[in-house]
Amino acid sequence: MLIGKPPDVPSSEITSREAYNEYFNRRRSERRSFLRGVVAAGAVALGADRLAELAANLIDPRIAALAGTKLQTVKSPLTTTGEQLTSFDDITHYNNFYEFGVDKDKPAKNAGGLPTRPWTVKVEGKVAKPLTFDIEALLKLRPLEDRVYRHRCVEGWSMVIPWVGYSLSELIKQCDPLPSAKYVQFLSYFDHHVEKWYGEDATIFWPYSEGLRMDEAMNPLTLLTFGLYGEVLPNQDGAPVRIVVPWKYGFKSAKSIVTVRFVDKMPSTTWNDQAPNEYGFYSNVNPNVDHPRWSQKTERRIGLPFYEQRRTTLMFNGYGDQVASMYNGMNLAKNF
Ligand code: MTE
Repeated sequence: MLIGKPPDVPSSEITSREAYNEYFNRRRSERRSFLRGVVAAGAVALGADRLAELAANLIDPRIAALAGTKLQTVKSPLTTTGEQLTSFDDITHYNNFYEFGVDKDKPAKNAGGLPTRPWTVKVEGKVAKPLTFDIEALLKLRPLEDRVYRHRCVEGWSMVIPWVGYSLSELIKQCDPLPSAKYVQFLSYFDHHVEKWYGEDATIFWPYSEGLRMDEAMNPLTLLTFGLYGEVLPNQDGAPVRIVVPWKYGFKSAKSIVTVRFVDKMPSTTWNDQAPNEYGFYSNVNPNVDHPRWSQKTERRIGLPFYEQRRTTLMFNGYGDQVASMYNGMNLAKNF
């Protein structure tokens, strides 16, 4: 695989200027047409769902203040090269964020009201220094890196995403975990007044919870993520801060996190609780271990022409060189 060589370009140039312009022009004209529609009392023509999305983004000053905000970034030696990036549009309109609805297009429509400021992340549990970080302090803790990663969902689709963030280990080091800290649990923001769609999957216990073994959390690839395509994360992608673990199925990457908890026992995690025979705690991408209801041998790359979409799934999503040694001696079919 083509991993490990830093790209020659900063994030601002990863997306072509053309693509950025297209996106912002579209947003601008959407806003204009929304306002025109209201004035003319003809907004119904936009359709109720689209109208709700636009309204949520328009009326919430916190979102308006952050939309399109560029982040200052540096190159990363840990970026993945040689892959065609998934478009901003696909990354932000084909999402799993069940608090905002179970359909892929719903988070983009419904997540406008997620209050991303003020925002704090509490670090607690088995640490010498329990700390609460304001999001602004977290953004400044380390230089923000452009890190392109493959993103493989357990459902069998994949993307290539230019994330922005720094290794989670940088945050962990600030808090001095105790020797008894064997695992890290991540809890997502949960407010049923804001995330009114949480009940669409009645089998899930909230808040969304995920976890990693300590060595996995400390692996430099595990990314504390604040942005994509060089700008702040759109709400539907887990604003203002999420975890990204590129060698594991996407559900291990908890969005919009508010708590990082160090624990001595394997924590309970959302999808493992929901169906332990289908979603293991480890959930490393593994083409040799099928999901009980479908094969994991191949995946569908979102956004490519139909005839190019299907591709072979790689062990550890192609990141084996960096992560395989953590699982030496483990039976990965049993510890799936
Ligand atoms: N985090 C929260 N809080 N809620 C969710 O529903 N879905 C997970 C993960 N993190 C989810 C979440 C799943 S199943 C996947 S595949 C990824 O987020 C999707 O991330 P994306 O929408 O940015 O592609």
